[in-house]
Amino acid sequence: MTGKRFIVTGGAGYIGSHVCVELVKAGCQALVIDNFANSSPKALDRIAEIAGEGVTLLKADLADPADEARIIDAVKAYKPDGAVHLAGLKAVGESVVEPVRYYSVNLPATFTLIRALEAANARLIVFSSSATVYGDLNQSPVDEKGATGATNPYGRTKFFIEEMLNDLARADARWKICNLRYFNPVGAHPSGKIGEDPNGVPNNLFPFIAQVAVGRLPKLKVFGNDYPTRDGTGIRDYIHVVDLAAGHVAALNYLTREEAPGAVVYNLGAGRGISVLEAIAAFKRASNRDIPFEIAPRREGDIAEIYASPDKANRDLGWKATKTLEDMCADHWRWQSGNPNGYRD
Ligand code: UFG
Repeated sequence: MTGKRFIVTGGAGYIGSHVCVELVKAGCQALVIDNFANSSPKALDRIAEIAGEGVTLLKADLADPADEARIIDAVKAYKPDGAVHLAGLKAVGESVVEPVRYYSVNLPATFTLIRALEAANARLIVFSSSATVYGDLNQSPVDEKGATGATNPYGRTKFFIEEMLNDLARADARWKICNLRYFNPVGAHPSGKIGEDPNGVPNNLFPFIAQVAVGRLPKLKVFGNDYPTRDGTGIRDYIHVVDLAAGHVAALNYLTREEAPGAVVYNLGAGRGISVLEAIAAFKRASNRDIPFEIAPRREGDIAEIYASPDKANRDLGWKATKTLEDMCADHWRWQSGNPNGYRD
């Protein structure tokens, strides 16, 4: 992989910043395209502090037609080997309220990236998809053959983009596509320099717990304790963001081989389920802080349990999640306690 160059859309974001670190560590360079809608340019300085130089920035909005020509020119000039595509809107609840906004950002951003890569003759995309494309029909562990059926507009944008990229690879054998279905990314880089910094009140469990632990929020609501699970609370497959980022490098490595197939799909998960109460208890141990919580009604659209079968990625990509729940909590806490207001001063 040494010497390869990749576009990373959304590269200043939570997952993107960790992907950039792993790319630089693998001897690659990255051109981040980001509009900082839900990220901070400070993440790029922190990436350099952790991994050294190798990342450059194009501040632009992939979904804005006014930025398209500039993006295409910059991508052509960069002469990339491909792209990791993470840019997009990602809040499930918001997508239900504003579906057209979700479609009109996530899909056009992908069109622009495809056109830019065509122009640069670099037909390779590793796409940030989600376990949400499995809907709620499957038995866990769920493998890549599981039935698809997203239950909200955000999830449908992920599913539509996967299918569109698959069509692209079918239509033109020069395209190499890898759809990565993330389970629940949590944690932060062990340096404590980069991590998740959500806008407003967090929707997701780990950032919410972390903000309760640091005293920014008073109390966590546990959404339901009457699910048919071991303690009644929802079960998810939490995966350390550094493991997840390493999965992208493994996917790029796989796709850039001479004999790479056209389009592939992989689950990136740890392969085991953790309940909400187990996550709270582990975070409490890692932070040595009290985490007040109350049992609240179920959240609409939630399912009882989902966790991955990561066997296919283990086998084909030679990748495996190695970090424990304790690592996830300790690293998430190091980031949150060292940066109580995220990247804001
Ligand atoms: N939960 C709480 N209280 C909270 C937040 C979450 O009890 O304040 C519970 C949820 O009910 C669920 C678990 O914690 O049981 C995890 O919830 P998250 O919101 O952290 O994650 P989800 O599994 O709901 O959603 C995540 C991603 C989505 C993605 C989905 C795919 O955030 O982008 O996984 O499975 F679509």
